[in-house]
Amino acid sequence: MYTLEIDTAQPYKVHIGTHLLEQVGELTRSACGGNRAVIVTDTNVGPLYALPVRVSLEDAGYTVDVFTFEAGEEHKRADTFLAILEFMATHEFTRSDCVIALGGGVVGDVAGFAAATYMRGCNFVQVPTSLLAMVDSSVGGKTAIDLEAGKNLAGAFWQPKVVIADVGCLATLDPAQFADGCGEVIKHAVIADAELFEELERTPLTLDLLMHDVSRVELLVARNIDIKRAVVVSDEREASARKLLNFGHSIGHAVEACENYRLGHGTCVAIGMVAIARAAVDYDACDASIPGRIERLCRAHGLSTASTCSADDAFAAALHDKKRAGDTIDLVIPRAIGSCSIATTDLATFKTMIEVGLAPERQ
Ligand SMILES: NC(=O)c1ccc[n+]([C@@H]2O[C@H](COP(=O)([O-])OP(=O)(O)OC[C@H]3O[C@@H](n4cnc5c(N)ncnc54)[C@H](O)[C@@H]3O)[C@@H](O)[C@H]2O)c1
Ligand SMILES: [Zn+2]
Repeated sequence: MYTLEIDTAQPYKVHIGTHLLEQVGELTRSACGGNRAVIVTDTNVGPLYALPVRVSLEDAGYTVDVFTFEAGEEHKRADTFLAILEFMATHEFTRSDCVIALGGGVVGDVAGFAAATYMRGCNFVQVPTSLLAMVDSSVGGKTAIDLEAGKNLAGAFWQPKVVIADVGCLATLDPAQFADGCGEVIKHAVIADAELFEELERTPLTLDLLMHDVSRVELLVARNIDIKRAVVVSDEREASARKLLNFGHSIGHAVEACENYRLGHGTCVAIGMVAIARAAVDYDACDASIPGRIERLCRAHGLSTASTCSADDAFAAALHDKKRAGDTIDLVIPRAIGSCSIATTDLATFKTMIEVGLAPERQ
């Protein structure tokens, strides 16, 4: 087991290992105290993992309730959020009780937002079960729900008291969802860890690797969380350095919207990473070998990097990006594998970069 300390204003620990679901009670008890716990989960994860978590919490002295909602991004919505709050109020939860998010990023985001707002904030524990949630969304304290006008438009910064990542849970993920998480793993390697990138080139992170070498998967998850930790600790509220985590996401989000959310997030990030790297080569900002290396690594992780989205449509979608500030957008440019920088770019230049990055003859 690995334990990392996230040194934000309110520090917390992240535990990464196997058979950790059985320890959720004990780890929650020492991080939060309290008497009651509500496990918030979805209809895919609940039937698989809620029971061991419930038993563990009861063994640690908690009175436990389970709130299950329909799986899927379309349920990361105000009605689910309000239903969780009403459920907690009906069960007489107090501020010192705990919300346990058991699931992927959708569960973590909506349960976290409920924890951030119930009686102006109560204890929150993340038990991520998807690769994306383990390496990305469970650490950093961002919580959110989607509105009609767009994704993640209402939310709060609310840090968990502890994060418990049991990599054994990854075995039941669908391969496409596993690959989605790999998009963020590759992103982390490009922004901060050339050695990790080379290691993934030699041996990709796959479900097969999980079956044969679980300790290596534990280590890879821990290294990824460590990269996110370093960035988040240096910039808790996304004033500057944290923007590096958006590598591949400006064009990626645009492609995601253009494709009507039919493609997985990891695939869109893969398309976005390769596109911005290609454009950076044209501006002499990075070595010509980099887009090809990122592209090959994405493909080795089951992520296609070809998009049918036109540059005009992608640019129109990118204009809705909430990261845009007036007439400029902050882009993350790969200078080398393991080192990226933020370039405030005017929209006309960004449009040209999208044209270069998504040009069909380059795909
Ligand atoms: N808060 C943040 O910092 C942050 C960062 C990145 C992404 N996100 C958010 O995370 C969400 C995406 O997360 P996700 O990819 O985990 O999506 P998700 O939560 O929808 O999970 C994907 C699917 O896998 C299922 N699942 C999860 N764990 C499983 C397991 N162990 N076995 C079987 N099935 C399992 C889920 O039920 C769901 O059907 C998006 O809403 C995104 O906005 C948040
Ligand atoms: Zn992402």
